[in-house]
Amino acid sequence: MLNWDEFHEDETTVAEQPKPAPAPQPAAEPQADNAAVAESRGSYQAAEGDRLARARRSLEELDVAAGLEELEMGAARIEVDDKQMINARADLNQLVPFKYEWAWQKYLDGSANHWMPQEVNMNADIALWKSAEGLTADERRIVERSLGYFSTADSLVANNLVLALYRLITNPECRQYLLRQAFEEAIHTHAYQYCVESLGMDEGEVFNMYREVPSVAAKSAWSLKHTQSLARPDFNTGTTKTDQELLRNLIAFYCVTEGIFFYCGFSQILSMGRRNKMTGVAEQFQYILRDESMHLNFGVDMINQIKIENPRLWTAEFQDEVTQMLLEGTELEIAYARDTMPRGVLGMNAAIMEEYLHFICNRRLAQIGLKEQFPGAQNPFPWMSEIIDLRKEKNFFETRVTEYQVGGALSWD
Ligand SMILES: [Fe+2]
Ligand SMILES: [Fe+2]
Repeated sequence: MLNWDEFHEDETTVAEQPKPAPAPQPAAEPQADNAAVAESRGSYQAAEGDRLARARRSLEELDVAAGLEELEMGAARIEVDDKQMINARADLNQLVPFKYEWAWQKYLDGSANHWMPQEVNMNADIALWKSAEGLTADERRIVERSLGYFSTADSLVANNLVLALYRLITNPECRQYLLRQAFEEAIHTHAYQYCVESLGMDEGEVFNMYREVPSVAAKSAWSLKHTQSLARPDFNTGTTKTDQELLRNLIAFYCVTEGIFFYCGFSQILSMGRRNKMTGVAEQFQYILRDESMHLNFGVDMINQIKIENPRLWTAEFQDEVTQMLLEGTELEIAYARDTMPRGVLGMNAAIMEEYLHFICNRRLAQIGLKEQFPGAQNPFPWMSEIIDLRKEKNFFETRVTEYQVGGALSWD
């Protein structure tokens, strides 16, 4: 495993590293002479006593029943039938009995796949990135654009999860997975930051690409547009209009952002890794892609379950609108492919990527029960499906460079 301290010591650029701000320290207590201490001790003890008395009085006044009633929990134990995807009135703190076993299973599967970016050895990437003839200009452009888009895209997804979506999904099994997903998004942002720092890239340029490079900015703006209404504190579900708005958000984030916007960059970087270039970055992307395919599958399950429970939402007009959203996402990803591949590179080009994205768009439409819009589109990158395929899970993790210890197996000596 790469030892970060050693890495910095080896680097000639160590002097350029900005010094981190020191951690805040509590203010020091003013010194006093013995007499003053003795004099103040009495009032100090009295103040302590007074605080304790106030704490006890406050607890005496705590109305447990009223508090629970205010949370609309009553005292009832919940039944499976009380649970719903959205607009449930049942207690959200009782995980069991399970109703949505698929959500709980994905929480378990995601936790079993836990990994951290520092486990991946980046030495070969650092050498290749810094050597003048290591990569072509087109290959460097792909690495820069990928890290530029993804370094902020996962923050957009995480913010949507915790600031917009979480409170509106009203069953604890799905919330449990959402919390797991939110942590995985933090790990992904960490992974991109780790790549950027390892390679010594211009951090300001990379992390601002989502605002400054048009093909990247267009995708980020599209995602942001679909989080705005749900993120308003006064937004609530409960009407056909607002429930459909929630579905739009799920489709925009799970099917388009995580289901289409990630696929050009992922296939480019993984293709690079298959050619033995930037293998550390490619390994990070491989772990991330596996997490993302589970996020996508979870989102598809949520969307389909909401449809089953609320068939009134899935009108012909709404289906038409959602189909258009997926087409918009596909167009934006094709524009990104053209921008990142002005010429053929890594056995790919923009036209082949366009076919791949048509194939991906068809898959996303079919997954949520909509008609494919690009009949006959084939997958030109069957190796991508092999990487994503969950049945490969075991083999994939056998290839890991370092053994990751999950909490239960930690050794403390
Ligand atoms: Fe992610
Ligand atoms: Fe994700």
